[in-house]
Amino acid sequence: MYVSIWCHSLNLSSRSLAIVLVVCVTLVYFSYSFNACLLASISRTLQQSNLRNLLTLQQRNASSEAEATSNSTASSSANSNSSSSTTPILNSTVSNAIASVDGAPKYQMLRQQGLRPSRHLPDTLIIGVKKSGTRALLEFIRLHPDVRAAGSEVHFFDRHYQRGLRWYRHHMPYTIEGQITMEKTPSYFVTKEVPQRVYHMNTATKLLIVVRDPVTRAISDYTQAASKKADMKRFEQLAFVNGSYSVVDTNWGPVKIGVYARYLEHWLLYFPLSQLLFISGERLIMDPAYEIGRVQDFLGLKRVVTEKHFYFNATKGFPCLFKSEARSTPHCLGKTKGRNHPHIDANAIERLREFYRPFNNKFYQLTGINFAWP
Ligand code: A3P
Repeated sequence: MYVSIWCHSLNLSSRSLAIVLVVCVTLVYFSYSFNACLLASISRTLQQSNLRNLLTLQQRNASSEAEATSNSTASSSANSNSSSSTTPILNSTVSNAIASVDGAPKYQMLRQQGLRPSRHLPDTLIIGVKKSGTRALLEFIRLHPDVRAAGSEVHFFDRHYQRGLRWYRHHMPYTIEGQITMEKTPSYFVTKEVPQRVYHMNTATKLLIVVRDPVTRAISDYTQAASKKADMKRFEQLAFVNGSYSVVDTNWGPVKIGVYARYLEHWLLYFPLSQLLFISGERLIMDPAYEIGRVQDFLGLKRVVTEKHFYFNATKGFPCLFKSEARSTPHCLGKTKGRNHPHIDANAIERLREFYRPFNNKFYQLTGINFAWP
């Protein structure tokens, strides 16, 4: 009634009134949309800058963890502590943010295309062998855009099995459809319970195993342990019983792990040979592109990682990368990879070679590959 009195006093027809109303509503609508857009854009900018910070933090974490945790048994408890001390921080405080960011910048692009990354249990495991080049293998294969790997050793099947598969999956990186989830924990190869546990997770799991001349591997293992313990006995004193070279101490970890055939036989109770790929640790150094080519074929991946990704660093004496997911400049693996080995008495080496020979032959027979170790 008031409106009609007001219209009447202003001499407005009902048609003019309708026009005025439409104009008002339109103005309100546009002003609302403009404000909403403005707010959304401000909040998106803030969010992106936060997430970028988190991404940098996570990548830094991953690379430092990668370096710190790739050394197994001797540092096993340290690894375990480091994974349990860093992961929960990421898990609890920033997990939601990381859930939408996760890892590589390539994911930001994919997400813009409407793809939704999620975590999956691994399809492929690098199960060993410790000190044979497992870190190099992981860093090289993860150059492939269809491979996503956990940065540090998760030790699920040997140390954290009781935590369950949900826990394990939570430690996996985000992937989109078609990408492979990978994890490496070298102690899996020699841990008795692991083959059955992996089998129970997924009978189709693909297994990658890097192997190296067991004598060099033992020396590498010893060198790593000695780097953490100042008063370590000499290699020769530890590798043999009673100080003479006649009896090899097969209970000493660095020696024991090199009896590959023994561990392999156990894995073959659960997995057919066709699900295992053996990578030569020696060839991974001499010709990384060749070995990574085999790995890509085995995993059904396009051969994307080629010789163009590697260069040989003469100072380090190892192949290094032009760039990786974590770093866009040329770099080598960390200081803990490619250490100088101590001098070992030639007679001790010869005795160890003799010791390993029958086990190596058995291993060649089981794998169908002659690694030609001396
Ligand atoms: P050394 O440090 O004794 O030379 P893992 O990663 O399984 O612990 O194996 C470590 C070994 O990987 C190193 O042992 C080294 O010989 C070998 N390796 C293979 N490729 C390498 C690379 N590109 N850079 C450094 N080390 C490499």
